[in-house]
Amino acid sequence: MPTLIIENLASTAITVPAGATLLAAIQAAGHDWPHACGGRGRCVTCRVRVCAGPEHLSPPTAPELRYRAAGRLRPDERLTCQTRLPTGQVTARIPRATQLPHVAYSE
Ligand code: FES
Repeated sequence: MPTLIIENLASTAITVPAGATLLAAIQAAGHDWPHACGGRGRCVTCRVRVCAGPEHLSPPTAPELRYRAAGRLRPDERLTCQTRLPTGQVTARIPRATQLPHVAYSE
């Protein structure tokens, strides 16, 4: 099964079901994750910084390309509400700027 590993969330491994967004898989696994616009691609709070395996992710969506062009999404970042993982393994980190105050993150 496709797997997302969140390095600074104790290297948690999350299985991403077929067709599910990363955000949906993260939430289904019971993790609290920022998503200010409710997963509509209208904020950047749900983003992850991809450390390994970006080639396994679905292509960037129109909102992601818009945010990249506006300088609000780095080239190595993806919006979890827009991104799917059809196959393979991806390692990512939640940026410090969007970390939730009540969640314990590792370095
Ligand atoms: S939750 Fe707002 S862009 Fe993903």
